[in-house]
Amino acid sequence: MSNAERLSHKVLIPEIRIKNRIKELSQQINYDYQDKELVIVCVLKGSFIFFADLIRELEVPLSCEFLGLSSYGGKMETSGEVKVTLDITEPLKGKNVLIVEDIVDSGLTLQYMLNMLRARQPGSLRVCALLHKPDAMKVKLDIDYLGFKIGNEFVVGYGVDYQERLRCLPYIGIVEKEH
Ligand code: IMP
Repeated sequence: MSNAERLSHKVLIPEIRIKNRIKELSQQINYDYQDKELVIVCVLKGSFIFFADLIRELEVPLSCEFLGLSSYGGKMETSGEVKVTLDITEPLKGKNVLIVEDIVDSGLTLQYMLNMLRARQPGSLRVCALLHKPDAMKVKLDIDYLGFKIGNEFVVGYGVDYQERLRCLPYIGIVEKEH
């Protein structure tokens, strides 16, 4: 699909379901991290909207960090090659770190990230992901806080793009090629 082609899409997860699920996830996170401080890591670019909505429901003291990773190179399938485009600035040693990811698909990006951050010796390291495609997983990983399990369809919206397009949809949609 070239960037000039028109993309249509249909709604997979409506805005209200995302909103409600974020309330549930944040209640769990607030409970698990009560009396603790959190370093919460937004994985760019896809999780920035999820991250912004999630942190506004959190009541624990936190600092925000941003980690830029790119793995797809504009394609619809993972290459398995992960490139760090922006690194966290804060030392993580002994800290409670929570990674906020948009989608765990093959799991290769998350595996790379976990190895990279574990080497910085955080006190704890957990993962919160909005979406998970269990049938696509190539590695065994635990997701501590998960929004929704979905099938192997290619999704967009709510921060998630296809070649930088459709990121701003307020819901999660499935791409359908028009031309
Ligand atoms: P993984 O390494 O295969 O788990 O891929 C993870 C990353 O690929 C996610 O953080 C997304 O940025 C991207 N990705 C995976 N599935 C989709 C999709 O359906 N739409 C858009 N991006 C996706």
